[in-house]
Amino acid sequence: MDLLSFVLCVLLEALAVYSQDAGEERIVGGYAPVPHSIKYIVSVQTTNRQHFCGGFLVSPSWVITAAHCNIGIERMMIVAGDYSLSVYEGTEQEVFPQFLVTHPQYHYQTNNYDIMLIKLKTPVVLNNYVSIVLLPRDDAAIPVGTMCRVSGWGYTSPTGGSIPSSLRTVTLPIISSAKCNSTGSFNGRITENMLCAGFDLGGKDACQGDSGGPLVCDGRAYGVVSWGIGCAEAQFPGVYTTVSKFRRWIDNTIFSYYNCKSI
Ligand code: ARG
Repeated sequence: MDLLSFVLCVLLEALAVYSQDAGEERIVGGYAPVPHSIKYIVSVQTTNRQHFCGGFLVSPSWVITAAHCNIGIERMMIVAGDYSLSVYEGTEQEVFPQFLVTHPQYHYQTNNYDIMLIKLKTPVVLNNYVSIVLLPRDDAAIPVGTMCRVSGWGYTSPTGGSIPSSLRTVTLPIISSAKCNSTGSFNGRITENMLCAGFDLGGKDACQGDSGGPLVCDGRAYGVVSWGIGCAEAQFPGVYTTVSKFRRWIDNTIFSYYNCKSI
């Protein structure tokens, strides 16, 4: 690299770092985790590097995300080991999907069964920046009130703004399905494949662009960011796909693709 391009790179990097500190919030009401401390999260991007969903690694070759994040296998790529999307940190691993396995019962109008497995063409390398997350046991329930962490590169307010450049995280309690399904709230739209997390008064939540990302409780990914009404509104917590309901489907799917060689 010649001197001019080196200086240019340093300037661009400084600019990118500076613009992250402009004070805008990401994930609503959250904060920036220690860089690379959340290693299981991936950014799901278009092939021209536009982040549009989150996801998480459950093995070096498999990512879980939301079914509604399926924009077509040819248009997607997965970035592991990322923190700031706008800065090349040297820790990123970019991989392409080999197969997308959307849950066969996914329904885009009800958001029911909003889960998808992505088999990667080449496995990621697990290291100090990239790891996997454990899954809950089959049908394991998570007690109401358990504090869980959701992370992502999504919007910081329901009115949008732009996709933030660095990762944000927030901790939220699990809310009972009875409360989440009550008339003042989601009024019956919460199925047994969904769980809710948030505060009665709102203020902290996942938002657009966080979809597909993990809700981690007691070290296991119990939820996949799925949907909501606005973001961080009182009475309307975030809705997540209940991963424990899909544990068998996940295991069976991964097992059945075990002998598929990458081409
Ligand atoms: N569906 C959104 C996405 O595609 C995620 C919405 C989550 N909303 C919420 N209020 N928790 O990114």
